[in-house]
Amino acid sequence: MRVDFHSHILPVMDDGAKNPGESLKLLEMLDSSKVDNAVLTSHFYRQKENIDSFIGRREISFGTLKKAMGESGSCPELLLGAEIYFYPSLSSDPDFGRLCMENTEYILLELPFERFQDNFYRSFSKFVNNCEHKIILAHIERYLSFGNTVDDIFRLCEYGDFVFQINCTSIAEAGFLQKRKLSKIFESGVPIVLGTDTHNTTSRPPMFDKAEKCIVKQYGQRAFDRICRNSELIIENCELSKLG
Ligand SMILES: [Fe+2]
Repeated sequence: MRVDFHSHILPVMDDGAKNPGESLKLLEMLDSSKVDNAVLTSHFYRQKENIDSFIGRREISFGTLKKAMGESGSCPELLLGAEIYFYPSLSSDPDFGRLCMENTEYILLELPFERFQDNFYRSFSKFVNNCEHKIILAHIERYLSFGNTVDDIFRLCEYGDFVFQINCTSIAEAGFLQKRKLSKIFESGVPIVLGTDTHNTTSRPPMFDKAEKCIVKQYGQRAFDRICRNSELIIENCELSKLG
């Protein structure tokens, strides 16, 4: 099952789609890449907004999108979610579970774009200990751009079990060095899923099909099949230990 676990398709929610027309174009692009499910993960920043307000805005935006979709033909099945920016005390909030991906106990967590220092690992550890949900770490490869090594990324796994979400663009456009780093992540055995992190049709289009081709070429069909299997298990809300 092809699932896009990370997208900014909901109209006027964040820096993603600017209107329902743009959302529809992005959905068409995903459909032409044979994506079965798309999780709508608008940015959530606890430092700017409370959970209730975010959920309310998301309902309105989703209503607008559904109206624009009308009877339009095939389209990936849509699931509501959020890209939750790391906020240390958030996992203890009694409302935190409302940010899970629809019908699951999985959350998509975005970490700070900075070099991970000891104090970050400490607050990350606390966050994970207080978190009753399963964590997908958003665009895990992007943290490599802030002075973090692949080992700094793997150090996160000392604090719990996670799914790594990799952005399709990072795979499709990887240069030599990035490919080497991605290989280490692919070969680590940590469960991987894909996300387009699409924001618009021009500078940040979905690229799911390109990423699929690169994965098959570089790591073989089995690697891509593994991603599809993990995706299906997450949609079914299976335990993280079942993922591979
Ligand atoms: Fe994102």
